[in-house]
Amino acid sequence: MRDHGEFKFVTRRKKRASHVRINYDSSISLPDDHENDNHPNVNYETLVGKLLEAEVELRNSLFSDNVFYYLRDSLSALNVSGISNILCYGLGHFSCRRSSKYQLALLLSLKKRYSSQVYMYDPVFSFKEIELLKEFDCNVIEVNEEGKRHVLDNVTLIYMPHCSIHLINNFLYANWCRQLNRCILLTNSFSIVADDLKKANRSTPVDYILRIRSYVTEIPLRNNFTCEEAFNDLSIHIFLEQDINRIAESFWNKREAPCYQDAEIDYLTAKQTEEVDAKNCNYTFS
Ligand SMILES: C[S@@+](CC[C@H](N)C(=O)[O-])C[C@H]1O[C@@H](n2cnc3c(N)ncnc32)[C@H](O)[C@@H]1O
Repeated sequence: MRDHGEFKFVTRRKKRASHVRINYDSSISLPDDHENDNHPNVNYETLVGKLLEAEVELRNSLFSDNVFYYLRDSLSALNVSGISNILCYGLGHFSCRRSSKYQLALLLSLKKRYSSQVYMYDPVFSFKEIELLKEFDCNVIEVNEEGKRHVLDNVTLIYMPHCSIHLINNFLYANWCRQLNRCILLTNSFSIVADDLKKANRSTPVDYILRIRSYVTEIPLRNNFTCEEAFNDLSIHIFLEQDINRIAESFWNKREAPCYQDAEIDYLTAKQTEEVDAKNCNYTFS
């Protein structure tokens, strides 16, 4: 029997497993001369094999059934027929991190299902990982956009699993207009983000997430995959036409660049990744 039962949009989630938490890594380290490329565990063929295995495991899971079911219904609610592009930030080291490996497996399944073009960036990707992504026909973005890619020309799935909330906030800022309804966000749950901020009594400047919340339809993804830390606390977020139509023009016009001056930023800035981006750009694969 399928797990999802009747499809129903929800904007709030009731309960979540308390034992699996997102590990927001504020001390992310950049690859040091790509030393992990020489690690015996990062043999290219082995990595491809592991990834293909993960893809099969994922494809046969109830979790992926649910994701595809809810995406199909989201597309139909949005009155669009497919996903042209997938933009992915913050996937992590999929060659050695289990959760990232399964997250990539889901990405490749989505790419296959919708014949989408994929664009991805994570400053920690090693040469080998970049090579493999290219082999799988994914476009690796060469500069750190700090999440600010403008994507509204096509229907785009924004895939940012357990990514920095500041990066999600930056993405919303960059695409802040009523055509936001061309985006489907598969990211950290906005309601959980808001609840956590409220509980912690922290005033993190993630205005764009907080402001759009009342107009978002959030579909929480039940975390029933075997690797629990891969997909916990993620939701699909869509912007339905009737909700977007309720928004006054002045709401969109109020659009200042996010400023995190006094906040602890949990992503790597363009300045911090300048060097590694340049190295990746100049690297030629054998
Ligand atoms: C908390 S980790 C999540 C990793 C993985 N998705 C997971 O769930 O285990 C956040 C990821 O964001 C990446 N990141 C940091 N700055 C970034 C940026 N400016 N653009 C894209 N990704 C970034 C980090 O390198 C890291 O892999």
